[in-house]
Amino acid sequence: MSLLKRLGGSPQPNESTAARQSVAPTLSPAPPPIAEERTTPPTPIAAAPVERLMNGGLAQAVGHTPSVEDAVAADDMQRMLELSLWVVDRIQASLGPQTELKRSAETERMLQERFARVYQQAGVNLQEAQVKHLFTMVCDELMGFGPIQQLLNEDTISEVMVNGPTRIYIEQKGKLRLSNVRFANDEHVLKVIDRIIRPLGRRIDRKWPMVDARLPDGSRVNAIIPPCAIDGSTITIRKFSKNKLKIDDLIRFGSMTPEMGEFLRACVISRLNVVVSGGTGSGKTTLLNVLSNFIPEDERIVTIEDSAELQLAQDHVVRLEAKPAEVDGSGRVSIRDLVINSLRMRPERVVIGECRGGETLDMLQAMNTGHDGSLTTLHANAPRDAIARMETMSMMAGMDMPLKVIREQIASAIDLIVQQTRLDDGQRKVSYITEVQGMEGETVVLQDIFKLELLGKSPDGKIQAELRPTGVRPRFTPRLEAHGFRLPPNIFGAQIPGRR
Ligand SMILES: Nc1ncnc2c1ncn2[C@@H]1O[C@H](COP(=O)(O)OP(=O)(O)OP(=O)(O)O)[C@@H](O)[C@H]1O
Ligand SMILES: [Mg+2]
Repeated sequence: MSLLKRLGGSPQPNESTAARQSVAPTLSPAPPPIAEERTTPPTPIAAAPVERLMNGGLAQAVGHTPSVEDAVAADDMQRMLELSLWVVDRIQASLGPQTELKRSAETERMLQERFARVYQQAGVNLQEAQVKHLFTMVCDELMGFGPIQQLLNEDTISEVMVNGPTRIYIEQKGKLRLSNVRFANDEHVLKVIDRIIRPLGRRIDRKWPMVDARLPDGSRVNAIIPPCAIDGSTITIRKFSKNKLKIDDLIRFGSMTPEMGEFLRACVISRLNVVVSGGTGSGKTTLLNVLSNFIPEDERIVTIEDSAELQLAQDHVVRLEAKPAEVDGSGRVSIRDLVINSLRMRPERVVIGECRGGETLDMLQAMNTGHDGSLTTLHANAPRDAIARMETMSMMAGMDMPLKVIREQIASAIDLIVQQTRLDDGQRKVSYITEVQGMEGETVVLQDIFKLELLGKSPDGKIQAELRPTGVRPRFTPRLEAHGFRLPPNIFGAQIPGRR
């Protein structure tokens, strides 16, 4: 069967002969580097089972020792990558360097035709499935983000981490794994970074070798290149989940109990100021999103984020996003600027994606001056650390306030800290719901209301843990009652035999 037929394209009269005349399909023993203008295609790939060449198959978990077979597969894959880039170079030359291809059925048909011609020039003889795979790789190069496109397409993958050209990790179902996807070389990684940031007008170079960006679907991207990234250009992508997790999902996954969910809903509706605390990737934004969705429909909400991730179902929402500086260094709009601005927007609720610096003090002051019911996240590993982190971040505002005054601001502004944790086995759970009760001397008094008890590990390595109320009713219970929430005492663990 002809290649064109296999790919579903139709042959163009005279074109293939003309093309074949311009490039001699001789095979070089060692493929030249991608950067060079190649006139010869790379070394052909042996007739290997296509699964071995498939970039997409996910490799064994981290810690897997590569076998001889893996090494052969990696070699085959490298050749396939080289071949795909050789084909891409040719197709791009035929299209003109400035052509931006948008994925559509029509573009794909056009590429099928051009691919078929260039493939013939290559003079390689691949199996049918390999040719199809090569075409997918070429399409991903021309219309997507190269080798990582298939990881981005896969819904069960939540994070893609490119650590140089050959070590690409993924997070799938809460677990980190090394994938067998790879780039041809560092320049190939740079090419993909460039494709991500160019439409946004951002730049990255040796002088300023890092950049934050977003993919068209909203996924959050950070890229950092040499000299700062010592082992090669690095890309970190937090994939945008089209369907953000809902409270029912969190309960179903065992991230919180239905009682905790009910309690948190009451707290948000009753306008408590809530901080979600957690480590990187622990699920802070997801939980903030769930909590924000408890805000009643008739309240005006202003959201402030570095990179818009929140998805609120309410209608009356104003979304603000920070803005990086222009190329000349001017024009930066920080989270802090937005917090200050938001207070002039008659907000009934301010939701701040994450407090990272001086904006913390503005937020605390807003919470203490009538803007209650505000929600935010911050980076800390335990509720007590969250207090320390707020102190440090408030000092970053440069207001020269005594620590005791900052502490008092925290103690009177924040009502609740919800601690989110990613356990070693990948499970994400609410590990504490802690009330901020006030000050005793110089200390902020905290009282846990719910707590995660670690019980051990099952034979399959899954961490066994139970979320339990501590038996203490929060002091702010009257505020919940004033909003019509009469939570039964057993929610807080009272009267439950065997529970503290
Ligand atoms: N309770 C949960 N159970 C399972 N997966 C979760 C849970 N919470 C969040 N996730 C998933 O974990 C990933 C990280 O979540 P999220 O972005 O909310 O974390 P984060 O703490 O805000 O991260 P960062 O520190 O990078 O801002 C996402 O893919 C999300 O869907
Ligand atoms: Mg986040």
